[in-house]
Formats: sequence, structure tokens, C-alpha cells
Amino acid sequence: MDLTEYFRIRLSTVRAFEDLPFDIYIYLDGKMITYVKIGSQLTREKISHLHGKDTGESFYVHLSHQQIYRDHVKFSMNSDKITNDEKANILRETSIGILEDLYEAPDVGKALEQSKPIITELLTFMDNAPESIGKLISLSGHDFYTYNHSFDVSIYSLGLGQALGFDKKTLEELGQSSLFHDVGKRNVPIEILCKKGPLDENEWVQMRMHPTYGLKILNEHTGISDAIKAACYEHHESWTGGGYPQDLSGNEIHPFGRIVALTDTYDAMTTQRSYNKPMKPTEALNMMKEKISGRFDPDMLNAMYSILFKMEKKVS
Ligand SMILES: [Fe+2]
Ligand SMILES: [Fe+2]
Repeated sequence: MDLTEYFRIRLSTVRAFEDLPFDIYIYLDGKMITYVKIGSQLTREKISHLHGKDTGESFYVHLSHQQIYRDHVKFSMNSDKITNDEKANILRETSIGILEDLYEAPDVGKALEQSKPIITELLTFMDNAPESIGKLISLSGHDFYTYNHSFDVSIYSLGLGQALGFDKKTLEELGQSSLFHDVGKRNVPIEILCKKGPLDENEWVQMRMHPTYGLKILNEHTGISDAIKAACYEHHESWTGGGYPQDLSGNEIHPFGRIVALTDTYDAMTTQRSYNKPMKPTEALNMMKEKISGRFDPDMLNAMYSILFKMEKKVS
């Protein structure tokens, strides 16, 4: 079975009570099995029930139907029958589906290129429906890899980049680099990434290698900008020094590295993990400002306050 002939989708991006314009497959025992046939309909209940299982069992569509699927999603995104909050959910789930494929793609250069439309759509959505930005952010940070986390960090970084007055081109690059900031975690054993509970010393040593692994992965491809590499390699550096892997400080750290350092920590603090309770947005920022402010560029930390009201994770 050639998995590369299929791409992953999230069921919540499919409209209920409509004739499906493509087949949906699941991958079982090494075989791709038709799960919902073209022309049949899904109920909303079935979608939300199955969606809960999306992380373990993926749903696929054949590549020959990719354009039809994209048009299906585009139609929802342009429909005035669908609320902006629902659109935020569709945009999020389509993007995460793409990210799952991209994170496993061997060619990171190509994956970065293919992630561009995600960022463009995010920026458009953030401009058109600022009141629904919070809906783009996941309520649970728990996933097998780091898709939700990477996606959320991108949204925060784009918001912060906008507040700092970045132009569109820079924002696009910032969005892409945020999506891939943890790409080096590919080389960290899955048991460590998914460990429930604090890591021991040896596990931390391996975990802290991920910026270096990331740079190595990015360096294997040509045409990847220094800014994108910096977000990956420098996002665990600290404004007053003492970070890793290079122990840089202040303006030695690339602005993208400084931004992701901030949005990455912010996301970790406000996300539900198995071993901690998530903080409220203002609580997290105050803590960053009072207890660990030395880690962050002070101007950027202040700018983060100005976008907070838009970025709150909302429970519907
Ligand atoms: Fe990281
Ligand atoms: Fe991260």
C-alpha cells in the first residue's frame, strides 16, 4: 500500500448532511479501506464522535481528490452560513492535517514551501475575523507530536509580529519558522516527547538537543533562510544569557528566535499538559514578566500584552 497516494484529513473539516464529493479512507492492518463513500452523507454527531479519535486513527483522501477536498474546504471558508468561529475550527483542523503530513515529510525544504498557504490563510483570517482568533487556538496541547503546539505558537508569533509592525513578507516567514521551530524533535525519542511527568536529567539532555538537531535538518536543504534557521536554533536562548545551545544574549539572538522563545513559553504555560494545570493568559504573562523576565526581550514582552485580548483560548 502506497501511503504517499493519500493525504490525511480531519473529519471536522467535512460538512455534514451533504453528499460527500470524495471517498474517505482509513488505514487498517496495512490496507487503505473506504470508510465513507462518495455520495453518502455524514451526520454532525458521527463527525464529532469520530473526530475524537482523529489523533490515533487518521482519515485519508486519495490524492486524485485533493483539489475536490480543497474546494470543499474553501467553500465552507467562504460560506456566509458558517460562523467565523466554525471557520476558525475548520481552518485549524485543515492546517493541522497538513502539518501532520509535513512533519513526516523527508524533505523539510519542500514541507516549508508547502506550509506557506497555511500562513497566508491564517493571516487573512486574522485580518477578517479578529474576534475569532481565540478559536484557532487549541484547548488541549496533548497530541502525539507537536502539531497543536507548533500551530498555536505560529498564531501567537504572527500576532506578536503584527504588533511589532512587521510587513507581510516578514510575517509569512515568521509564521513558517514558528511552524517548524521544533522540527528537531523528530530526532528525540518518542518516549521522551510523550513522557507523562517530569523528565530525568539524561532525558533533559536529549530533549535539549532538539534545536541543534533542527538546525542540522534545515541545513540539509538549500534555500532555507537564516531567519527560519534562527527561529529553530535560537528559540531556547535567553535575553540575559544562560540559554542553550549557544548561550547568546540580547540582540545577538535573532528577532525570530526572541519571538519564538516568548510565544513558545507562553503556549507551554497556557496549555493543558498531563502534569500541570494551564494558566490563564494574563496570569502566564505576569509570571513571565515578574519571575522569568530575564529570558525575554522586554519590548516584545510588553507588546505581547497588547495582543492578549485576541489570543485567549475560548471554550465554546
Ligand atoms: Fe523547542
Ligand atoms: Fe516549542
